[in-house]
Amino acid sequence: MGSGGREDAISGKLASEGSILYSVMGHENPSIRTKAREYRIIQETDWQSILKYALSIQPDLVFIGPDPVLATPLVDKLEVNSIRTASPSSKAARIETDKTYMRDLMNRYSIDGNVGNWSFDSNLALEKWALKFDSEFVVKPRGLTGGKGVKVMGFHFRTKDEGIKYANSLIRKDGSVLIEEKVSGEEFSLQAFCDGKTVLPMPLAQDYKRAFEGDVGPNTGGMGSITDRDHLLPFIPGRARDKALSILREVADRMRSESTPFRGILYGQFMFTKSGTRLIEINARFADPEGINILTIMNDSLEDKLFQISYGDLKGGSSFLNKATVLRYLVPKGYGTKPEPGSIHINPVKRDDVRVYYASVSGSLTDVNLSTSRALAIVGISETIPGAATKIDDYMVNLSGDFYMRRDIGTEDMLSKKIMLSS
Ligand code: AMP
Ligand code: GLY
Repeated sequence: MGSGGREDAISGKLASEGSILYSVMGHENPSIRTKAREYRIIQETDWQSILKYALSIQPDLVFIGPDPVLATPLVDKLEVNSIRTASPSSKAARIETDKTYMRDLMNRYSIDGNVGNWSFDSNLALEKWALKFDSEFVVKPRGLTGGKGVKVMGFHFRTKDEGIKYANSLIRKDGSVLIEEKVSGEEFSLQAFCDGKTVLPMPLAQDYKRAFEGDVGPNTGGMGSITDRDHLLPFIPGRARDKALSILREVADRMRSESTPFRGILYGQFMFTKSGTRLIEINARFADPEGINILTIMNDSLEDKLFQISYGDLKGGSSFLNKATVLRYLVPKGYGTKPEPGSIHINPVKRDDVRVYYASVSGSLTDVNLSTSRALAIVGISETIPGAATKIDDYMVNLSGDFYMRRDIGTEDMLSKKIMLSS
C-alpha cells in the first residue's frame, strides 16, 4: 500500500527478492507500476475499497507504507477476514496517530526520555496553565498532520501569547491539544522491526526536514537523510543509540502488557540533548526518507521479516551493508511555500553506487511530471557520508528539468559543523 518514494523502495526490495506484488497506490507511480503484477489506484484513506480489493485477490500478506492508512480500520478488518498483515492494528497505531496516547503511555510507566507534556480540551484549563508556565514550549495537534502541524516556540511562533492562540485554535478545531516542553539538541531516527515482543533495530539515520540549505526555512516532509557505515552517526554517541533502543523496547513491552501489541515498523524520532536522550515522537511505519536509506542497504530478506512480524516470531538479528548512504529529494521549485510543478528528464544510467526512487510523480521512468510534493529520491552509497554525497553530485548530469534539491545534505562541511557542535 502506498505510492511514494518509501513505497518504491519497499516494492523494489520485495520485487528483487522474488515477491509477487499487488500494489494499491494513491497515484500511479511509474516505478512501482513496473514492479507490480497488478495495481489499483485507490485513495489512501478509502479503506473500504482497499479491503474489497484485498478480499478479491486474497494476498498472503499486506504491508502498509503511509501513515494515513494506519489511522483507518483497514488492518483490523483485514485481520478479521484472516488476511495476514505486517502493520499495526488501528489501536496500536495510536502510538503515531494519537500523540496524547503516546505521551500518556510514557507518563503512566515513567518511561525514560519523556518530555514535560500537558493535554488540554478546554481553553480555560490551557490559559490557567499558561499563567504558571514560563519556559519555551511546543504546540502539537493530537492527530496526523503530515509533519506540518507542530509549532515550536522560537521557530514557528515567538511569544507565549502566539503559542497559546495557536493551541486555542486547535482545541476549537480538534477538541484537544498537546503541549510539550521544548527541548533542544541533535535529532536522530531509530527504526526497528517489531513483532509485538522482539524489537530489532536498524541503522541510525538523520532526516533534514527544513526546506533550504543550512537547515532553514519551513518544515517539509523531509528533504533528505543520511546513514553511516557503522550504523551510528558521527555526531551521536553510541550510548544515545542504546538509550533510544531501550526506550523503544520499553514502549513495545508496555503496549503488549496493555493488550495492544505493536506489530510492524517502530520508528522513533529522538533528540540527543545536554540532559540525555529524549523521545520526540514515535511513528508506526518506515520513515520517508530515512526508511529509503535503510532499505537500500538491507541484507536480509524484507519478505521474511514481514512474515515473521505477522506471525509474532521475529528471528535472529538484522543485517545491513557496512556502507554510508546519503539521500537527497528532488522537489518542485518553491516546495514548502508555493510549489511550481514542472517536469524532469532522467537519463536511465545504471550504477551500483546510486539509486533513484520515484515519489509523487506521473509519467514514465525517463520523463516525469511533478506534483506539489517530493519527486525523486536519489541515494548515493559509499564508504563515507561525504563520499556518498559526491556520488549524487556526479549522478546529477543524468537529470535535467525543473527541480530544487538541497545540495548541502551529507557534505563534509555539514558534518564537521555538527561534529563540532556535539563535542
Ligand atoms: P513531530 O511531528 O512531533 O516529529 O515534530 C516535528 C518537529 O518538531 C520535530 O522533528 C522537532 O524538530 C520538533 N519538535 C517536536 N517536539 C519537540 C519538542 N518537545 N521540543 C523541541 N522540538 C520539538
Ligand atoms: N521522516 C519523517 C517522517 O517519515 O515522518
